[in-house]
Amino acid sequence: MSMTHLLGLKDVPYEDIKQILDTAFEMKEILGRGEIKKKDNLNGKSIITLFFENSTRTRLSFELASKYLGAVAANIAASGSSVAKGETLIDTAKTIDSMAADVIIMRHSSSGAAKLIADNVNAAVVNAGDGMNEHPTQALLDMMTIRENKGHIDGLKVAIIGDIKHSRVARSNIYGLHTMGAEVVLGGPSTLMPSNIEGLGVKAYYNVEDAIKDADVVMGLRIQLERQKSGMFPTIREYSKFFGIDEKRLKLAKPDAIVLHPGPVNRGVELSVPVIDGKQSLINEQVTNGVAVRLAVLDILANNGGKKN
Ligand code: CP
Repeated sequence: MSMTHLLGLKDVPYEDIKQILDTAFEMKEILGRGEIKKKDNLNGKSIITLFFENSTRTRLSFELASKYLGAVAANIAASGSSVAKGETLIDTAKTIDSMAADVIIMRHSSSGAAKLIADNVNAAVVNAGDGMNEHPTQALLDMMTIRENKGHIDGLKVAIIGDIKHSRVARSNIYGLHTMGAEVVLGGPSTLMPSNIEGLGVKAYYNVEDAIKDADVVMGLRIQLERQKSGMFPTIREYSKFFGIDEKRLKLAKPDAIVLHPGPVNRGVELSVPVIDGKQSLINEQVTNGVAVRLAVLDILANNGGKKN
């Protein structure tokens, strides 16, 4: 694989996604070990997580994956860094790069921020979520969970429901699932659909029922109150009533359909509590697979990526 950074899945070919997923399945073996969860693939490498937005799953799984592979891992949060004193993003990234970082993993509220630093540093850059653009490792772990449970991705119908417009998870999944041969349909209020749906090569429904019908995979998305301008739907209660995935709506999907959600979940809003905790839900498996995917991405990029210091 010639990949030097992982900024998004838009232009990542089938073979590269397959290689990352194959590696993630191999890496998952580390997580099943009893006491020693370690390999030395990244001995001597330094990996920095730079998060300008909150995170539990992504940041922790990258940090654990770095340590499981023997790298030196350090993290920096915007509030505790010199960004708070007015340093620019590029200067901050160059400062980290000057400390001979091999991989920089960044989450930022601006779309395109990861590409901006990738263009200005020697290290390999992983986009851990940039604004409303992409969150590639989330889509990879979603695809891993689908493949693990269905045996394949191609030919499956995947319904993504909710706030598509603000969702970098939706965008990365649309690109990645499309490349891997799945049929992707979207469901949600028209105010939460992006304006360029046709350009994304997917079908959109403005109700949940039509989108979910006969789906193999039902993916709920978080209502992103922090990115939303007011007026996109009347109230949370109404959103949940008309667009929430409950047991009745889930019955419209195939009987063996699986339920995914990237987390964090607003319980009782985008998914009902019985659906979140039900047998079809693989939300906890997604978290475990998140570590496996990040092990794979770091292993590939730390050894291949960046322009080298
Ligand atoms: N899904 C996801 O990105 O979760 P975090 O915000 O907790 O990292």
